[in-house]
Amino acid sequence: MPEVKILRKWVHDPEQHRMEVALSRGYYQAARQALTEMKPDEIINLVRDSGVRGRGGAGASCGMKWGFMPKEPTPQRPNYLICNCDESEPGTFSNRELVEYDPHQLIEAIVISAYALRVRTALIYCRGEFLFGYERLNEAVQEARERGFVGEKIFGTDFSLDIIVHRGAGAYICGEETALMDSLEGKRGHPRAKPPFPANVGLYGMPTTINNVETLCNIPHLINHGLEWFWSMGTAGAPPEEPQARANWIKSLGTRKSTGTKILSVSGHVKRPGNYEVVMGTSLRELIYDVCGGICGDHDLKAVIPGGSSMPMIPKPIAMDVQMAFETLQAAGTALGSGGVIVFDDQTDIPQVCLAIARFYKNESCGKCVPCRIGTDWIYKLIQRIVTGQGRMEDIELIRDVCINLGGERMMDSRSYCPLGDAAAWPIIWGGLKYFQHEFEHYIRYRRSPVGAEPALVGAH
Ligand SMILES: Cc1cc2nc3c(=O)[nH]c(=O)nc-3n(C[C@H](O)[C@H](O)[C@H](O)COP(=O)(O)O)c2cc1C
Repeated sequence: MPEVKILRKWVHDPEQHRMEVALSRGYYQAARQALTEMKPDEIINLVRDSGVRGRGGAGASCGMKWGFMPKEPTPQRPNYLICNCDESEPGTFSNRELVEYDPHQLIEAIVISAYALRVRTALIYCRGEFLFGYERLNEAVQEARERGFVGEKIFGTDFSLDIIVHRGAGAYICGEETALMDSLEGKRGHPRAKPPFPANVGLYGMPTTINNVETLCNIPHLINHGLEWFWSMGTAGAPPEEPQARANWIKSLGTRKSTGTKILSVSGHVKRPGNYEVVMGTSLRELIYDVCGGICGDHDLKAVIPGGSSMPMIPKPIAMDVQMAFETLQAAGTALGSGGVIVFDDQTDIPQVCLAIARFYKNESCGKCVPCRIGTDWIYKLIQRIVTGQGRMEDIELIRDVCINLGGERMMDSRSYCPLGDAAAWPIIWGGLKYFQHEFEHYIRYRRSPVGAEPALVGAH
């Protein structure tokens, strides 16, 4: 079985959230070692050399991002660390499990990361709907405070840290790092222009690093097991022995390869949906057929969204051979994104899938910029027109035009204020329309669904 249990090792134990249980399993030893035996830059270098990339969507090199933070913050200009636990991307539910059932793994990770980044105040931004996770996190922070793992002079060192858990109000846009900071500051969650980047001007205008829950949870394991162990999982292979070649190999990891594991949230038409942790590079075929038991009702596979609803779906012939890693999915015309794998069987009506996706982004566009506000609405209305039997053949090109052009104000390619514009356009133009245009044409020509024995209920929307 390609499934491994590192970050998810203890999530099935209902007592794991308690401090005594976590301690009995060796938790906080990595934090003690880091704070008492390692220099902050040693940890930053370890994280950079590991090649660990952001698990929240963009896949940026974590160590490289950490390297941009000031080394000598002052009380007037402190550094901040924010853990992004907003997790609102449809199809993604791995952060939620980690904070609900193993919150001390994250707290320990934050203690180590904050030490490395010279941070005295770290914040966890928790999705509004995650009430249970929010309560579990607060309890865990309180327990850590009582044990002296959070607070003044941790492990007898000069390092002090406070952790604040903040619950959002439930808006997808607040997962975007700059909107998240606006929301934390008490404003309406709207994205900010970049540059300046958060490492320079972030929360309250101060240098800030924002990382996903899963990204951070890797850090204690890295301290405990070291680089070779982390490299041994993933697509990079073994490092060369010759020093210069080895240095070049390490340098390229964070941008060109994928190391460690990834928790994939699998939903849709599989027999055993759920969260699964696999080594980077595991094939989608193994994930669907070996780990998740195959397609429900033993139907055939039609398509897969590999990284949450904003990533383009890939059809069966591509999906069966692709490896779940950053660079391999990119080469296949899609992305690992947030690791939300949505599986569609051969009975799936793809235009209806696209309609559901378009509806989500139309509702969640914050409205700050015109291309996204208008474009998401246009995409939704055009697909709706097609699946309700009112479509015209020209509408297909019109959808493409909205994504790519929109009267010069295109949604994609960073022309929207933040990547929500891309997130709304990509799954339609590079997924649904790219591989299943014939299904949209079928709707337009025959005014009924291209799949299933029953005629579609035209006009039911
Ligand atoms: C619209 C939108 C929503 C996002 N939602 C999340 C989210 O819920 N969780 C998350 O970790 N990253 C989310 N991101 C990505 C963050 O902006 C940011 O890149 C990430 O938190 C950085 O952490 P990482 O480098 O550890 O992945 C979102 C991005 C966009 C554009």
